[in-house]
Amino acid sequence: MRMVDVITKKRNGKELSEEEIQFFIEGYTKETIPDYQVSALLMAIYFTGMTAEETARLTKAMVDSGETIDLSQVKGHKVDKHSTGGVGDKTTFIVGPLVASVGVPVAKMSGRGLGHTGGTLDKLESIEGFTIEMTKEKFIENVNTHKLAVAGQTGNLAPADKKLYSLRDVTATVDSIPLIAGSIMSKKLASGADSIVLDVKTGSGAFMKTLSESEELANEMVSIGKNLGRNTVAVISDMNQPLGFEVGNANEVKEAAEVLQGKKVTDLRNLSLELASHMTVLAEVFESYEQAYSTLEENLDNGKAFEAFRTFVQAQGGNIDMIDDLSKLPTSKHHIDVKAEQDGFVTEIDAESIGIAAMYLGAGRATKEDQINHGVGITLRKKIGDSVKAGETLVIIHSDSDQPKDSINKVLASYKIESSPVEAKKLIYKVIK
Ligand code: URA
Repeated sequence: MRMVDVITKKRNGKELSEEEIQFFIEGYTKETIPDYQVSALLMAIYFTGMTAEETARLTKAMVDSGETIDLSQVKGHKVDKHSTGGVGDKTTFIVGPLVASVGVPVAKMSGRGLGHTGGTLDKLESIEGFTIEMTKEKFIENVNTHKLAVAGQTGNLAPADKKLYSLRDVTATVDSIPLIAGSIMSKKLASGADSIVLDVKTGSGAFMKTLSESEELANEMVSIGKNLGRNTVAVISDMNQPLGFEVGNANEVKEAAEVLQGKKVTDLRNLSLELASHMTVLAEVFESYEQAYSTLEENLDNGKAFEAFRTFVQAQGGNIDMIDDLSKLPTSKHHIDVKAEQDGFVTEIDAESIGIAAMYLGAGRATKEDQINHGVGITLRKKIGDSVKAGETLVIIHSDSDQPKDSINKVLASYKIESSPVEAKKLIYKVIK
């Protein structure tokens, strides 16, 4: 087989066979096919697309390019959850313990943050002593004993995706739906769960800005899951403003712990319940979504979910005093009120700008090498639909510098205040099964 023929076929809009896809993925991983030929193929895929079967073949080839996690030693139906990335998204810290509280095992591989979105691992490391490094045996033992473990993703899961993603980044081929869907699903499938719930974000702070693009991506990923034998459900949720009120690291852990203790942070609590309900129905612990939702809601209110969180933190070496007394979590030197300049109603909050403002403070990484400052971040005092008076606090900036000018300007620019209110945004747009 010659790579030039594979490129020509795709350029002409034809469907690639399993052998052709395997040939290029294997060749690229083993470096027998050069970047320039793969770049040409990626651009051809970008313009001519891929069928659902072709995308599933691509995903399978990427899974087969490296190691897969064998979770067969974990008892029960394993369910994974993945978010396409947003600002203030701390649902993993709520959903994991919540699902564990009804006995469903969650063996989660997570990543670090880059750019305007934070990473689960960085946030968890705000808890003193918490470690995401563990042997495979310890990971499995923790899932069996406590029903929840979170580890760093090993570099060997879907290595073809890692190489392709870097190449897409520099060849203007990132935003191709089949390539994104294959990339995300290859890592999820290699992580070994039996069923997967995807939280596909839509809006200003999301990778996909419009509902139709988000729906297309969600459909594509559900179809890959189905094609490759994993039950997959996608929830399309709003990311036109940050989720909850806290954006950062330690302050996000604190907010999640409070929701686990029954605090009614509406959007965060409702989205967590939605995702956890689908996960537990897929695991066949409940017969219906309604039954799942009401039991899980009880577990948020009766302390069972919080207890599962405490157990999980302790099992991974975290200082439990910081969870029992959340004021012991790291914080910043200064807390600066950013005030509204006029009366009115909040009609927009650009989530991406809030994420960037938090990154400027040190809560996120501009480059892979940057160190995270766990104590800094942003607390929103006003969300879309709220009324506001001039001089009232919109946002509190938690900073180690007493004059974080860039962050203040970014936050002010992200808020739109108008004289009449807007209708509240939907939280969940669609569920695709
Ligand atoms: N996240 C991924 O893992 N891959 C993509 O292609 C886009 C977002």
